[in-house]
Amino acid sequence: MLNKGLYNAMITSVGHYVPDRVINNKFFEEYLDTSDEWIRTRTGIQERRRLDRDLPTSYMAVKAIENLLHNRGIGIEEIDLIIVGTVTPDMIYPSTACIIQEKMGATNAWGFDLMAACSGFIFSLTTAIQFIQSGSHKKVIVVGADKMSAITNMEDRNTCLLFGDAAGAVLLEPTEDKSYGIRDAIMHIDGKGGKYLHQLGGGSLHPASHETVDKRMHFVYQDGKTVFKEAVKGMADVSYQIMKDNKLKPEDISYLVPHQANLRIITACADRMGISMDKVMVNIHKYGNTTSATIPTCISEYWHNGKIKKGDNLILSSFGAGYTWGSILLKWAY
Ligand code: UT7
Repeated sequence: MLNKGLYNAMITSVGHYVPDRVINNKFFEEYLDTSDEWIRTRTGIQERRRLDRDLPTSYMAVKAIENLLHNRGIGIEEIDLIIVGTVTPDMIYPSTACIIQEKMGATNAWGFDLMAACSGFIFSLTTAIQFIQSGSHKKVIVVGADKMSAITNMEDRNTCLLFGDAAGAVLLEPTEDKSYGIRDAIMHIDGKGGKYLHQLGGGSLHPASHETVDKRMHFVYQDGKTVFKEAVKGMADVSYQIMKDNKLKPEDISYLVPHQANLRIITACADRMGISMDKVMVNIHKYGNTTSATIPTCISEYWHNGKIKKGDNLILSSFGAGYTWGSILLKWAY
């Protein structure tokens, strides 16, 4: 449960960016033991985007923020704080937030990166809310951005066809009208999940070496079957919980905005909540799993298509490495 402060935090603008280069399922068929049919039916993915090799995550984040600022009609100098959810920072440090701040000339902002894998966006949003609720910050940007192509082993059919590159961003501002904005958040972690989904190399435990490179330790490793079972349960349970805690019925929900890891996980979550798939934001077929970017790109795309209106109840839910998972309930305010 959120500890309510002076204000509610409401989303007042959105933006997103996906690279132009499209990689379809046929691409993988040509060199791996897989098929378009398997990928579509087991994951729901038809294609994903790849950023140029020499461009970093911050490139996409800057584009998403530019889109957001344009939609709100404000300049970057109005921003107080930038929080970046990512597992693919441009480098270990300085933070991607610092790089974005410098690139965009966000002279009045401070910021930091937050690493919670596929829950990076909702953990960042939950963190950002506190600064708005307390009244200490007026305009906070939360970005979810990942260049997953930088950490996927293109020879590993268990992972390489799942992931894509993208960035999405939201702007948070305060409202005194407590019936709008972010109304509840439930977050969880369970470190026992670490062995099933991780990137072992490059940290202080396994610093980069010839051995870490030879053993492919700088890439994503996933035991898909185990994570799948936990994700179905974790995401469905927490989504149902936030509905129950807030006395919401399925008909009160305008949209579920789920993390896009697998269409079967998304469907199971919607089933548990008792809502039909026409109330579920989906873009996995176009972009695959973009880690921290799935939820904000969905929201931004649906907003740009005129599909979100004032008063809509949205439930944002995710599950990812850690394990990390959670749900956020908000009433759309503009
Ligand atoms: O985003 C963060 C959290 N991550 C997730 O939520 C991902 C969760 N996991 C998944 O989405 C799914 O487990 C995968 C999409 C990764 C894999 O799907 P699955 O249905 O769990 O496949 P599986 O590993 O159980 O394998 C089923 C079959 C096996 O063949 P047999 O033994 O039934 O003959 C695999 O060998 O599919 C085979 N298989 C493949 N076939 C073609 C596994 N990977 C592939 C592949 N192409 N890429």
